[in-house]
Amino acid sequence: MADRQDQAFARQRQSDIYIGGVSGRKPVVPVNPEELRQAAKKRLSRQAFAYLAGGAGSETTVRGNQTAFDRWHIVPRMLRDASRVDTSVTLFGYEYPVPFMLAPIGVLELFHADADLAVAQAAAAEGIPMIFSSQASVPMEACAAAMGNSPRWFQLYWSISDELTESFVRRAEDTGCQAIVLTLDTTRLGWRTQDLDLAYLPFLEARGIAQYTSDPVFRSLMKEHGDEDPGRNKKITPSTLRTLYRMSRNYPGSTLKNLFSGKPMRAVRTFIRTYSRPALNWNDLTTLRHLTDLPILLKGMLHPDDAQKAVSAGIDGIIVSNHGGRQVDGAIPAISALPGIAETVAGRIPVLFDSGIRTGSHVIKALALGADAVLLGRPYVYGLSVAGSEGVRAVIRNLRADLELNMGLSGIKSNKEIA
Ligand code: FNR
Repeated sequence: MADRQDQAFARQRQSDIYIGGVSGRKPVVPVNPEELRQAAKKRLSRQAFAYLAGGAGSETTVRGNQTAFDRWHIVPRMLRDASRVDTSVTLFGYEYPVPFMLAPIGVLELFHADADLAVAQAAAAEGIPMIFSSQASVPMEACAAAMGNSPRWFQLYWSISDELTESFVRRAEDTGCQAIVLTLDTTRLGWRTQDLDLAYLPFLEARGIAQYTSDPVFRSLMKEHGDEDPGRNKKITPSTLRTLYRMSRNYPGSTLKNLFSGKPMRAVRTFIRTYSRPALNWNDLTTLRHLTDLPILLKGMLHPDDAQKAVSAGIDGIIVSNHGGRQVDGAIPAISALPGIAETVAGRIPVLFDSGIRTGSHVIKALALGADAVLLGRPYVYGLSVAGSEGVRAVIRNLRADLELNMGLSGIKSNKEIA
């Protein structure tokens, strides 16, 4: 990896691209965020792109997450010798090369056949932490094996079944995850208009449930839900058969055996029944605290009072996020919520941020408004859609170079100087 001193990374990245241009090569993975999104759109099915890019309701919060950044401006300082820029950050005793990591994003098989494995390989190659999603397409054990000692965290959706929640946490510990991120804002799916209009939910095709189907507790829950058949009186149509086939193909093992065993259907049904606990409340956090010694972060914080409660409850970190505008339409843009929360937390625990990060200047603004680090969301999946693991690497490198360059040009020598 390039020396993080002397803006070496940014210079190298720029010259690789410009020198490529001399011999007629343009970046396969566009650098401009909107071009990147469009390039992914070209490669994906309508359903996959809607699932990735879409949001809740009229998508005001999706748009707001972007436009709210424009209300803040960087005021560059001159003559400060910022030839050396240190982008590294320390969280929970671990040092990371840049103040961004990869957000947990589910159902990656919709965007590339190598799915989470491609992302894990890219994250490891770039030394960036990856947060494994509860809704991953590849079990966390396989991703961890592909990452060597490279850092990873685990994102938890709290199941109706305490045993299943505990099993996920144990597996995260066993696979070397350095923290648990409990996502609070998706106890139910938001009113996602694009997905609703296409009548498409990937989980019903047994996609994005690999953490579950690879789990011993989930497999025993499947037996309990085995004989219920909500579809008994429904008409069988070519579309039903197609879904049944897809389910069987997506479920682990032989497609033919799966078709006749009924397991995929049972898995989907069990997942729908158990995936999340809408009754989740502050008392449940004590249970999680007793389950693990790993740092626990709460993802989905938007109100300073909730952040204060998190600190009082002994939580180790919070993530200010509105889930990329996918949950509550009209919710406050995440960047607008950040300053009040950072002020309340007052440095007692790390504050992370996501929802809208697209450029290096967005990272600088988030750090300036009180974040210790940020999560990169949709853009790395656009990269995955365009060019697999190499696409994810390109997006990571571009963001890193953009950040380093803008820090230097603004006279900022390290994250600590951003204020
Ligand atoms: C997500 N996000 C998400 N979050 C989470 O905690 N667990 C998950 O499984 C998922 N899955 C998921 C799928 C897709 C397709 C998207 C776009 C997002 C939310 C994610 O972690 C993050 O909060 C947002 O992506 C941030 O918004 P931007 O920057 O992508 O707009």
